[in-house]
Formats: sequence, C-alpha cells, structure tokens
Amino acid sequence: MDAFVIHGGPRLVGRLAVNGSKNAALPLMAAALLTDQPIHIEGAPRLADIASMVRLLEDLGCETSEEVSDSASATAGREAERTLTFRSTDWSSSHARYEIVRTMRASICALGPMLARRGQARISMPGGCAIGDRPVDLHLRGLAALGADIALESGDIIATAPGHAPGRPGRLRGATIFLGGPFGSTVLGTANILCAATLARGQTIIESAACEPEIVDLARLLGAMGARIEGAGTPRIVIEGVDELDGGRHRVMPDRIEAGTFMMAAAMTRGRLTLENCPLDAMLAVSDRLKEIGVRIETDETAADTLRATCEVTMDGLPRPAQMTTQPYPGFPTDLQAQLLALLTLADGNSVITEKIYPERYLHVAELSRMGARIFRQGPTVVVSGVRRLVGAPVMASDLRASASLVMAGLAAEGTTIIRRVYHLDRGYEAMEEVLSSIGARIERVDDKDLLLDGAPLGALESGAGAV
Ligand code: EPU
Repeated sequence: MDAFVIHGGPRLVGRLAVNGSKNAALPLMAAALLTDQPIHIEGAPRLADIASMVRLLEDLGCETSEEVSDSASATAGREAERTLTFRSTDWSSSHARYEIVRTMRASICALGPMLARRGQARISMPGGCAIGDRPVDLHLRGLAALGADIALESGDIIATAPGHAPGRPGRLRGATIFLGGPFGSTVLGTANILCAATLARGQTIIESAACEPEIVDLARLLGAMGARIEGAGTPRIVIEGVDELDGGRHRVMPDRIEAGTFMMAAAMTRGRLTLENCPLDAMLAVSDRLKEIGVRIETDETAADTLRATCEVTMDGLPRPAQMTTQPYPGFPTDLQAQLLALLTLADGNSVITEKIYPERYLHVAELSRMGARIFRQGPTVVVSGVRRLVGAPVMASDLRASASLVMAGLAAEGTTIIRRVYHLDRGYEAMEEVLSSIGARIERVDDKDLLLDGAPLGALESGAGAV
C-alpha cells in the first residue's frame, strides 16, 4: 500500500491551479443516465472516485471516452485538462452493484437519473462509513413522493416508476417535497430528486433543497440539456418536467474543498501561494474564518468570474485562535473541518470547533494528537489548545479529509511524518504529493513495504503482539 513520507518545515511557496470539483463532477456524470445523447464533462479531475463513477456508468450501459485537451487550456501545476464523454446506450442493466457502491457512497447519485429515464433502478444500499452514519432516507422519501415504489431486497434498494412494465419505462410525477433532515438538507439527495424531477410529469417543488454550489453546477448542465429548473442554489427549487432531455457539454466548477485545503496548508507553513481557478465566491465562510485567523487572501475584486478567481494567500505570524461550526452551505463546510482543525493546532490560544453535519467526524483527532497537538473532544465539539510545534510521527490516514489534515500537519511539523493508507487521499486529491512538491514541500509516495520504523518493517509493527 502507498504511504507518504513528509519531511516537515519548508514553506509552501508558488502557484497552483485548483482542480475540477470531485463533488460536482460525480452527479454531473450520473446525469448522463437521463438521456441517450452524449454528455461531455470538461475538466474532470483524475481521482479514484471519478474512476469508480466511470466504472459504474459503464456497468450501467454507458459508453465512455476521454479526451485530453492541448496545453492551452491546461492550468498551472496540472497536467492537461481532460474531457470525459458518456453516452447511455444500453438500458438492459439498471443494477448498481455492491462491489462498486461499497468503494464509493456517491454511487447513490445514479439512483434518481436511472429511475427517471429507465423507470427502474436497483442500487446497493450504501453502508456506514468512517465519518459516521450516512442514511439515504431523504433520497428515498423524495423519490417516493414522485410516485416511485421503493423496496429493499438483499441489501439493494429497488425503485420503480409508476406504470413501469416490460418494454415501457413508466414515468414519475411531479410533487412538492420537503427534503430537510435532522442535519439540514442533503446534497446528493437534492441532486437525485432534481435529476429525477426533470423528466417527471408536471411540476416538482423541492423545499429545503441543498444550496451547495455543486447543485447549481448540476442545474446548469441539466439546463443545457433542456431541463426547466428555477431556484437552484436556494432552498426552493422548482422544476417543470419535460418529455426528454438532450445531450450537453459542461465545464465542472473548481473544487472549493481542494482550494481550501491548499490555502490552509500554505497558511500552516507560513507560505505564499497564488491560486488560480479558485472558486472564492463559493468560499465566503472559509475565507471569513481564515481572515479571522490572520491569513491574508488577496484577489482582484474586478475579476469577471468570481468562481474562477486568482488569489494570493499569505500568512506571516502565528494563527490566531478561532471558533467555527460546520453547517450546510453557505456555512463552513464539514469537508474542511479537519484541515482547519490542523491549522488551529498551531494557534496562539484556544479554539473551539463544533461539527454539526457529521458529529462523529473526528478520526483525525487521535492521529494529530500523536504529533503533539492538544485537542480535547466532548461529543461534537473539540477545544484545540494551540501548541508551539508539532512533531513528525507515523500516522494512519482514515477518511479523505482527515488524511488531508495529517498531510498539513506533516508539512508543518518538525521531523519526518509517515502517513499510511494514502489511498483515502487519492479519492479526492489528484497527485497530491506532486502538487505539493511543485510548491516546495518535501513529500514522496512510497510503498509501505519498503518503510522501516526503528529498524523494523512497518507491516511487522502493525501486527505487533501486545497491542490492545
Ligand atoms: N442525511 C440524512 N438522510 C439522508 C441523507 C443525509 O439524515 O437521506 C444527513 C447525513 O447523515 C448528514 C447530512 O444529512 O448528517 C448531510 O449529508 P448529505 O446527504 O448532504 O451528504 P452527501 O450528499 O452524501 C456530500 C458530499 C460529502 C459532504 C456532504 C456534506 C459528495 C459526493 N459528497 O455528501 O463529501 O461531506 O455532502 O456537505 O458530494 C467529501 O468530499 O469528503 C465528502 C464526504
């Protein structure tokens, strides 16, 4: 298995372009199931989750192809941009199998499009995951409100549209749906119902819809395909169903979580980073907290496209302590909680973080503590008591964003940090070690079989007797 070896200390200095957004790209790709015409997704990142979605769509009868653009449109610090094309040609399979769903929960976003166009969808029920319980009850409630019959069989969700019969897909019918849950709305649930409603008979109103910019990005593609949607980006989305949808071409929005991660990594090493293609306008809660901490973020206010801005991020002194609560958009995103926490481990005082989306999303706390961080957790809240320095240590990556926080800590720590199981990072950050090396980090990817710790292979230590 791959691991990262990081020699901490160097400041991150240089220029990077933010990648296409993983969480925007996944539902955009699934929208290919809504039509038999081609869908072109420009700027799709090269990530393990994107590869899983390609595999899923191929399994569901889509032809896929990839085209790499000439360097003119490639952005700084990245390989040439690529466009993925999908065309749904074979309707005979409508089963998203467990082998794929278990590797990527976002497979659930195939449910709405497949049901709407093919009249039936069978998808393995996603299980729990490292960041806590992640139910899909709201997705199912929404589809049921559109008239779908929902059944559970052998761990699979089977959703069937009214009037579905052999040789006849059937059709969903518009409805007014309340999508709020105990932790706010649901992003992929909103994507599912939005997609399903585009082909339903009549009008659908989604109340308490997720307002995330990734939903707006999806609505843009659906609009280009001929869908009639108003209000995306607000809690009330109104959709007038149409009989069929055309193909479409769309450039995926930049990844606000990747951008935030690099901003915080630069701040943590007191670096100076210029970020291109940065969705600053979708990051106001993030830049607000970073400015509070003392990070300077400068941008050209007159830039034409504030979702693809260029900005310079600098940090000189110690981070100031701060308070932060994760919330649905436009609040501070849960997907940057671990990274902010890592930054605040070096603050000049006590910070308080509360996780309101996934109250158990704190797997990074124990690992950061191994590096000298002082963190006290009580339920969904942690107090981070800033320390003068972190020290390198062998640590274990758990989920995607927790792993990013460990990389940040390793970059700022004294000495060497070894992070194992970096496949978690590959799900959401493209060639992270190459990107960070290009701005001055000393980081390399190695096979953990080749690593020694205190003279013993790491693998042998893992199975060590005496561990309780
Ligand atoms: N929830 C329910 N019922 C549901 C669905 C969600 O109670 O049917 C709860 C969840 O348990 C959670 C909250 O609602 O407490 C929000 O979950 P949401 O459904 O919005 O999450 P998601 O759509 O499955 C996406 C991102 C996550 C990100 C969350 C929250 C993708 C592919 N995933 O997940 O991204 O954390 O929204 O913003 O878009 C990541 O990239 O690391 C990641 C986990």
